[in-house]
Amino acid sequence: MSLTFQEAYQDLRHIYDQTRQAASVPFTLRDAERALAALLTTDNLWEAIRLSHVPLRALSTFWHQLIKAGLLKAHDGALRLTESGQALTQALGVAPLREATCAHCEGRGVDYRTLPEGVAERFAEIARHRPEAIQAYDQGFVTDATTLSRIAFAWHRGDLEGKAIIVLGDDDLMSIAAALTGAPAHILAIDIDERLIQFINEVARQEGLDRLEAVRYDLREPLPTAWLRRFDTFLTDPTESFLGFKTTIERGLLALRGPGSAGYFGLTHVESSYEKWAQIQRFLLDHGAVLTDLIDDFSAYVNWGYIESMRSWEWLPTHSLPERAWYYSALHRIELLRTPDLDNTAVEGDIFSDAEAATT
Ligand SMILES: [Fe+2]
Repeated sequence: MSLTFQEAYQDLRHIYDQTRQAASVPFTLRDAERALAALLTTDNLWEAIRLSHVPLRALSTFWHQLIKAGLLKAHDGALRLTESGQALTQALGVAPLREATCAHCEGRGVDYRTLPEGVAERFAEIARHRPEAIQAYDQGFVTDATTLSRIAFAWHRGDLEGKAIIVLGDDDLMSIAAALTGAPAHILAIDIDERLIQFINEVARQEGLDRLEAVRYDLREPLPTAWLRRFDTFLTDPTESFLGFKTTIERGLLALRGPGSAGYFGLTHVESSYEKWAQIQRFLLDHGAVLTDLIDDFSAYVNWGYIESMRSWEWLPTHSLPERAWYYSALHRIELLRTPDLDNTAVEGDIFSDAEAATT
C-alpha cells in the first residue's frame, strides 16, 4: 500500500483535528510530527513520551486517535505503528529521531565532577536517607547527578560562591548540595513539607553546615518581610500549573535583591506546551527578567512511588511501569535587569492543576 504525500497529509490533518477536538489543550502539527518520529524510534510507551517532547494530555489523545484509525497498536506497555501507520509516516517523510546526547555530561554541558572532592559522595550518602516523594505536594525528585549538576552550573555562572541563596521547595535537596560545596555565604531552604525541613536541618547539624537552614513556608502565603530582597540567587523546580508556576517564580523574584540577581527553574514538556512556555517567558520579560540559559532535558527525575495514581495514568492506552527515567525538565536561568514590580499577596485555591497537569 502506498500513499502520496497529499493523501498522507490529509489523513494526518484529520487525526490532528480530532485530537484538537478531543483534548482542549494546545497541540500543533509539529507536535504530531514529533510524536510520530518518537513512535518510529521506540515501541516503549515511556520512551515515546520522553522522546516526543509533547505534553502528555495532548500526546495520549493523539495516540488514541491513531489507534482508532488503525495506525497504531497498544499492548503490554508497547506502542507499535501498524503497516498503515508505517506507510503514513513514510509518505509524510517523518524520520526516526537521532539522539546525539553527550555521554560524558548526559547533555547538561557541565560536569559535576568538577565540584570539590567528596561533595558528590557525601551528597549521595545523605540523599539515601531522604523522605519519600508524596503526591500531596506534587513532589518527584531528580537524580543525584541532576542536583549536583544544577549546583555546578550555578557555580559556573557565578551565582553560588559568596552568594546568598534561597531554594523554594527543596525535595531535590539542592540546598544541601550547595552547602556541601562550602561556596555560598548563606543558604535558606523553604518548603511546605515538615519532613523535608526536619531532614535538611538535621543534615545541617550533623554535617556542620552552619550556613544552611530550612524553614517551613507555604508558597501561597505572602513572602515574609525578612526574606524580601535579601538573596542573590533563587533555585526552584515549581509545580507546572500556570498559577502554581507563576506563584513560585513571583516569590523567587521578590526574594532577589534586584538587578543582576539570578534565578533557576525547571520546566517540562510532559506538562507544559510551548504555548505555556511562551506565556511563562512573556511573564518573565514583563517582570524585568531575561532568559539567559535554557538546557532541555537537563533534569532527570527518579520514578516516584505514586505513578499509578497520577491523573495521566488513565489517559495512557496501555499500562506498564516505567523501567528508566522518562520525566525530564529543561533548566532555565534568568537574570534580573530591573527590580520587578510585583504584589506580595496570598494566593487562593488549587495551585497544582491546570488543563495540562499530568502528574498531580
Ligand atoms: Fe558533554
